[in-house]
Amino acid sequence: MTEPTAASRKDDHLRLAAEQQPGIRAARTAFDDVTVRHHALSGISPKQVDLGVDVGPWRFPAPFYVNGMTGGTEKARALNRTLAQAAARAGVPMASGSVGIALDDPSTVETFTVIRQENPHGIVLANIGAGRSVDDARRAVELLAADGLQLHVNAVQETVMPEGSRDFSGWLGLIEQIAAALDDDGVPLVVKEVGFGLSARTLTQLRDAGVRLVDVAGTGGTDFARIENDRRDPVEDLSYLSAAAGFGLSTPAALLDAASLPSAVRHDLTVLASGGVRHPLDVMRCLALGARAVGVAGGFLSVALEHPDDDGATLATVMESWREQLVALHALFGAPSPTEFTGVDVVVTGDTADIVRAQTPS
Ligand code: FNR
Repeated sequence: MTEPTAASRKDDHLRLAAEQQPGIRAARTAFDDVTVRHHALSGISPKQVDLGVDVGPWRFPAPFYVNGMTGGTEKARALNRTLAQAAARAGVPMASGSVGIALDDPSTVETFTVIRQENPHGIVLANIGAGRSVDDARRAVELLAADGLQLHVNAVQETVMPEGSRDFSGWLGLIEQIAAALDDDGVPLVVKEVGFGLSARTLTQLRDAGVRLVDVAGTGGTDFARIENDRRDPVEDLSYLSAAAGFGLSTPAALLDAASLPSAVRHDLTVLASGGVRHPLDVMRCLALGARAVGVAGGFLSVALEHPDDDGATLATVMESWREQLVALHALFGAPSPTEFTGVDVVVTGDTADIVRAQTPS
């Protein structure tokens, strides 16, 4: 077997993540344990609905964004172009994939900067992995002329990744330094998982490290342990760490965990959610459980891959349709804005209710 390169890994991720999507759309997930109760006379007019939400210093036009995915190869460049064109057309904020590869190999820079070229006026976040230095964090933001930085903590993925890091001991200290430095620079920082969830304990550690924006990025969608395990020699099977095997915290469970934080901690944090968001009702479920806005990766990736040559037109249409559906759902549930959707009646049942009940306090 030839040694995987950082670039070939990125193309493997795209292929394997796209292959997971039909199964994710067809599966029953933890989101199906979350029922937003219907009250037949609670509705309002769509004209009363404003979908805009404040996230850090930004006003997102609607409570969803394109989450960090790719960069580093020719295929990734084409995909970033389509994603950025769609984001620009629809006015949806977007994060890049990890720019670590471009910091290490300048020949790949253009596979990321295409995002800013195609979307000069939109909200764009650069993305980098935990374990990187303050200098790298600043370079990542500069490289993309980004409005902010997403920093991912992906210890499960690294553990299963054949060529992954194994030493996570320095991560929190580096995050604290990056949070302080970016705060000085006036650059917002979002810390996220990549699909295994941030627990209440992790959120408390991040808040104490000076982080104010977090994306819980739970299980239920793209399963990076399965992706990395599919890249391993089958005799070294680590599939027991996959979300499919029950490892990690689902997106609804992570949001419920966040809601259990002491109010002084919760108050300091703006919580975003991602991981397995399939349609606008899942967005509403996240809002109901306390998320300010919701990230979508794999679902938008599939659309972009299916329509590579239309300058993002199909994906932009999907995004605009999500926005219209969200207005309709806000009217149906009687919420004039996403932040006013937290007071609705939510019923949590099944495994998600059991997990939350059984959770030991952080
Ligand atoms: C990702 N994700 C990701 N996250 C991150 O912070 N940096 C990255 O470089 C990547 N790379 C990446 C590649 C691909 C192909 C996918 C599909 C996803 C994770 C992503 O942002 C998100 O947290 C998870 O995918 C869960 O969301 P979905 O896919 O279930 O909507």
